[in-house]
Amino acid sequence: MNAQLIAAYRQAFLEPQRGLQRLYEMAKRDQWNVDSQPWAALDLRRLPLSLREALSGLCCQLHYGEVASMLAAARCVEQASDSAVRMFAATQVIDEARHVEWFTRLIQLLDAGPPSGIHDSVANLIDSIYGSATLDELCLGMQLMVEGLAQTVFQEAAHVLRTLSPRGGSDFADPVGGPLLLADWLQNGIARDESRHIAFGVLHLGQRMRQLSRVQIDALQRKVEYWGQLLLAIPQADEPHFATLGLDSQILAARCVSDLNLHLRQAGLDVQIAAAPLSQT
Ligand SMILES: [Fe+2]
Ligand SMILES: [Fe+2]
Repeated sequence: MNAQLIAAYRQAFLEPQRGLQRLYEMAKRDQWNVDSQPWAALDLRRLPLSLREALSGLCCQLHYGEVASMLAAARCVEQASDSAVRMFAATQVIDEARHVEWFTRLIQLLDAGPPSGIHDSVANLIDSIYGSATLDELCLGMQLMVEGLAQTVFQEAAHVLRTLSPRGGSDFADPVGGPLLLADWLQNGIARDESRHIAFGVLHLGQRMRQLSRVQIDALQRKVEYWGQLLLAIPQADEPHFATLGLDSQILAARCVSDLNLHLRQAGLDVQIAAAPLSQT
């Protein structure tokens, strides 16, 4: 018999860890369908091309992260040694597949030309994390750092989209309210899923921290420092797009670092990312 399959089969009968089980139940309860959103009501061609290009460019970077998250979650399903971890990761695979589908549709609706290339700064971070040698590194990088970065960008992007509503005060105000609809979907659909993925990362990594050796923990902490620098390079590299969207890249980076440091503390990691110094403008 296949040793990996028989081990997974036996583990499925063990009592799951309560926190992981709770997240798994929430994931089942909160499934949603991209098709059930009223896409026909979303006419984004009313927005100026410069704004659509900036939104599309940002969505392409996020899309790349969603694809990587889906593949990383699938690796976790296959390689995790705990049944509850495997079961939750399986729900994350379908969540991320839905996010990939959502961003593909949105980029097509923005109609701002062919999908843009992936920025070096984004690829540097995601490719390094995706190449992790261990599941612990992969969990740290994807669940805390990439998910955390995406979550912060989603929250900020939703805020910007709300300013595009008729009463939002933007010069680009859309009388039909398409951006407002988009902000609601972003926050109530995708961002809610990502919160659950981050919670899983914090919980699982926190449990692993009690099992790892000092040498293994030190290696994880060095990864945080390295990936933290790569992460901080992203808002700086994409500053023109952020500026077009009305996003302040320095504020975005500071919020990212603050959220990430909180999650690192919650997971029991004794390392923090230093915020980038504010440039004098
Ligand atoms: Fe996602
Ligand atoms: Fe996610």
